[in-house]
Order: sequence, then structure tokens, then C-alpha cells
Amino acid sequence: MDAGHPPCFVRLPLLLLPLLCGAAPAAAAPTGGSDVAATGEFWHITDLHLDPTYHLAEDPTKVCYSSKGVPATHAGLFGDFLCDSPYRLIQSAFSHMAPLTRPEDFIVWTGDSPPHVPADELSTDIVIQVISNMTQTIRQHFPNLTVYPALGNHDYWPQDQMPTSTNDIYRAAAQLWKPWLQPEALLTLSQGDVSSSAALKVFLSRFVFCPVPAGGFYSQLVKPGLRVVSLNTILYYGPDKVTRNMTDPAGQFEWLEQTLEKAAQSLEKVWNLSLKPDLVTYRTLNVAFFLLQVYIIAHVPVGYLPFARNTTAIRESHNERLVAICRDYSHVIAGHFYGHTHRDSIMVLLDKQGGHFNMGTYGDWLTSGASLKWTFEELQFNKSVMSSLCSASSLCRLEYIMTEAFGLADLQPRSLLQLGLSFMLPQTKAFDKYFGHYMVGYNSSIVCEGACKVSQVCAVLHLDRLSYSKCVAKGE
Ligand SMILES: *[C@@H]1O[C@H](CO)[C@@H](O)[C@H](O)[C@H]1NC(C)=O
Ligand SMILES: *[C@@H]1O[C@H](CO)[C@@H](O)[C@H](O)[C@H]1NC(C)=O
Ligand SMILES: *[C@@H]1O[C@H](CO)[C@@H](O)[C@H](O)[C@H]1NC(C)=O
Ligand SMILES: *[C@@H]1O[C@H](CO)[C@@H](O)[C@H](O)[C@H]1NC(C)=O
Ligand SMILES: *[C@@H]1O[C@H](CO)[C@@H](O)[C@H](O)[C@H]1NC(C)=O
Ligand SMILES: *[C@@H]1O[C@H](CO)[C@@H](O)[C@H](O)[C@H]1NC(C)=O
Ligand SMILES: *[C@@H]1O[C@H](CO)[C@@H](O)[C@H](O)[C@H]1NC(C)=O
Repeated sequence: MDAGHPPCFVRLPLLLLPLLCGAAPAAAAPTGGSDVAATGEFWHITDLHLDPTYHLAEDPTKVCYSSKGVPATHAGLFGDFLCDSPYRLIQSAFSHMAPLTRPEDFIVWTGDSPPHVPADELSTDIVIQVISNMTQTIRQHFPNLTVYPALGNHDYWPQDQMPTSTNDIYRAAAQLWKPWLQPEALLTLSQGDVSSSAALKVFLSRFVFCPVPAGGFYSQLVKPGLRVVSLNTILYYGPDKVTRNMTDPAGQFEWLEQTLEKAAQSLEKVWNLSLKPDLVTYRTLNVAFFLLQVYIIAHVPVGYLPFARNTTAIRESHNERLVAICRDYSHVIAGHFYGHTHRDSIMVLLDKQGGHFNMGTYGDWLTSGASLKWTFEELQFNKSVMSSLCSASSLCRLEYIMTEAFGLADLQPRSLLQLGLSFMLPQTKAFDKYFGHYMVGYNSSIVCEGACKVSQVCAVLHLDRLSYSKCVAKGE
């Protein structure tokens, strides 16, 4: 999270933010046969923002560096709203999550480990130390789980300035995440530190064939039928001066298209090779689609910021391209999960005609020792948000279950679209409820109506410039 956010949100103690953006074939609900691989659960954690300086001090301005001198008047063992996360809060959240975890689960972790402090209080070494600390802390609590990380804008020094080639931080990340990621993933994350066979590939590709892109992104198969694509959207982030004039920084767009194209092709193979013949006979091609789902994960999200007018989270030109690619491959993309905004929100990507959606984008977050658990069964997602302060006396509690809170049958794009459309209807409380969750229950006397509501609703349903502008024009 960064400049442009309302001041009351500038720092939240702990952001575990799951963000899932889902793409689904519009037709054909699954017709039974739950023996396919696409069933399971995963956690989404994000924006941990560890502040190692947090401590209970007599002088409230000295509680944490991240309050930048503003008095932290409600400081407790587990944090203060004005401070980034104390280590104890993060540990407490993970300790609460661990017993709710099954061996076959996995974790999506969308970045931002360091605190919000001025650049001169950090350094490349400190940023690496903090990422290392968070990596080890996650491994200690979830020793048997694979974690799919994405880099955040604070996971660099100076913040936001991610380069398009390898550097100390990409190399450190590759080293730290070796227990989770395969050599091929480490290769695009950072050419610098890879196994010998991958190194050979790098050598060949550098000197013999074409250059291998390396820029803090990767893709990896989670299990047959499910692939994670972790994007480095900091390369598209406005404050990143390094990439400002580039149309395709680090070649990530081209790589993304190739990766999704390969996924689309292997989907065909999966359908032919690994399905039992009787399943094939009664499943339509559409049903086969979700045998190969791709989850896009990244820190800075696609689309428009819900709390601002006409402002994309990444640069507008890069947003247009990313939206176009997601539309082209919406038949293989099952979900998107982002962090960064420290809010709990959803997005649904409609196709160009605006009539049929072909993809649902799901944004979420958790705060204050929160954790979020997704369950998925084929394309049916459940989101339960656990939030609020975890402390010795009051353990993390369940904040809400999305389907129950909004009376939805499921969280498929179709249902989320209906929910988004209902926000504008008079006489419905759905939007107020949505906004309360968006604020993570921070202050229920803050209301969002008029222009505020138009910005929110247009950001839920319109991710590209043309349709967003039309939505805003209609709303005013
Ligand atoms: C992480 O940082 C915290 C706070 O500084 C410290 O107490 C803890 O020992 C560190 N853990 C690891 C694994 O480095
Ligand atoms: C991790 O896996 C090992 C070996 O299967 C098992 O003994 C251990 O209990 C597991 N640990 C956790 C925390 O699930
Ligand atoms: C980007 O382009 C502008 C205008 O062409 C130029 O002034 C600026 O120096 C360029 N920035 C970078 C980082 O190359
Ligand atoms: C399945 O395999 C058959 C025979 O190899 C092939 O003709 C057909 O095109 C394949 N179908 C798909 C969807 O890949
Ligand atoms: C939104 O921003 C874009 C570029 O930043 C600009 O071209 C457009 O006119 C703006 N639209 C509105 C409705 O303000
Ligand atoms: C989602 O939640 C509903 C209501 O709690 C439950 O009936 C359903 O089985 C859940 N689905 C999954 C995939 O967990
Ligand atoms: C909650 O919001 C209201 C209205 O904006 C404001 O007056 C009040 O001070 C806020 N309370 C807190 C605790 O921030």
C-alpha cells in the first residue's frame, strides 16, 4: 500500500491479504465426479509488514518506527493500528492457522514483508533480512506446505524500484524460496542462483539461443491441473522509475502469454491422457477446462483502485495490456489473488461486450493477525476471512464467510457479477455490507455513498479504461 490511500489506512498492523481473481468458462457447471484433482484449500497471506522496532514504550511516539512519530495510543502486545505488525502478531496468526491446515494445502503469499519506514532506515541488506525472517517464520509454522510467494513493492530497496534483470534481492529470494520452488521457477525469478542444470540452460539461452527473461516472476505446477503464475507487477507500478518507459518490462507480458498458451495446450493433453474414459464421456469440453486452472498471483493488483477515481493500481497502459491477456486466456485462468491495498475487495472481469463475463477477480485482505482460507472445489470457491486482533485473551476469530454474508450460492464469476450489479440497486443493503468488509470492520460509522460508491462499484465490475469510463459517466 502506498501514497494515495486515505490516511486512516496508511498502516494496518497486519495484512494477510488473499486475493483471488478467477476466470471461469461461462457455461457448464460441473456434472459430478469429484474425483478430479481440483479440490482443496489454501491460505492467502499478504502484506505482513513486520516492524521489528515495535515495543511497548512509555512515550507513545516511540512505540514503532512505522508510526513515523504519530502517537500510537492503543499499543498492546499485539500491535496498534498506526504501527506495522509486531513479530508477536504474525506468530500469533500463524499459530492460529497451523492447526486448521491439512498436509495437502498450500499457501499463496503476495509480498510486502518490510515495514513502512523512510528509505534511509532500510537498506538492501535489511530488506533481505526481513524477507528471510518472514520466509523462515512461515516455514517454521508450515513445514510441510509449499508456499507460492510474489514480490511486493516494499520487498526492494529503495522501495518500488524493481529492475528488469537480476540483482541481490531477486537472488536472495531465489535462495530463500528454494525449498518451495523448482529450478525452472527460480530461473525466471532470478537467473543468478539456480541449480547446475538450470545454470546450463541460462548459459545456453544467453549465449546460444535467446535471452531468458529474469525479473522476479515464475510459474509452477501446484499439482496436476493447477498452475500458479506469480507475476512481478511492481514492474508495472507507477513509482518504479526503472520501467517507466518500457512497454514490456523484463519481457514479462510475452512470458505470461507463452505460459498461458502452454497451459491452454496442456489442458488438451490432460483431458485426453489423465481422465478416465467414463469421465470423458460425460464431461463437456468446458468441464475439462477446469482440469487445468491457472491462478495468477501478484502484489499490486490489476484494475482500478476502489477508493480513488480513474486510477489504476498499476500504470494504465500496462493495465490495459494485462487485462487484454487475462481476457484472451480467461478459459484457463481460474482466479487471481493480489495484495497491496490492505482492503478486502472483489473484481469481476467482463468481456469486451460487457454482456458475458469470462472471468471473476477476487480481492481480499485480512488485517490484525488475520488469515484467510480459501476452499475450492472445481470452480466453486469459498472464502472465509478470519480477522481482528489475535491475542492471548481473544484469539483470531472468523470475520465472515463470503457466501453466507451475501447469500451467494458460490463465488463463481457469475455470482460475483450478480453481487456487483446488485450494489447499485436501491433498497439493498448488500453494498453497505460489502463496504464494511472492505474496511475490515475498522470504523462502521464511515459510510460510502454518492461519488464514493460510484468509484467502488465501477472498480468491482470494470477493469479496463473504456468500460470504467462508461461506468463512471453513467454513475454521475
Ligand atoms: C524475526 O524477527 C523477530 C523480530 O525482530 C525476531 O524476534 C525473530 O527471532 C526473527 N526470526 C527469525 C527466524 O529470524
Ligand atoms: C510434516 O511431515 C512429517 C513427515 O510426513 C510429519 O512427521 C510431521 O508431523 C509433519 N508436520 C506437520 C506440522 O504437519
Ligand atoms: C522516459 O521518456 C521520457 C520522455 O521521452 C524521458 O524524458 C525520460 O528520461 C525517460 N525515462 C527513462 C527512465 O528512461
Ligand atoms: C485426443 O487424442 C486423440 C487421439 O490421439 C486426438 O485425435 C484428439 O484430437 C485429442 N483430443 C484433444 C482434445 O486433445
Ligand atoms: C482518466 O484518466 C485517463 C488517463 O489517466 C484520461 O485520459 C481520462 O480522460 C480520464 N477520464 C476521466 C473520466 O477523468
Ligand atoms: C462452501 O460453503 C458452503 C456453506 O458453508 C458449504 O455448503 C460448501 O460445501 C462449501 N464449499 C466448499 C467448496 O468448501
Ligand atoms: C470513525 O469515523 C467517523 C466518521 O468519519 C469519525 O468521526 C470517527 O472519528 C472515526 N472513529 C475512529 C475511531 O477513527
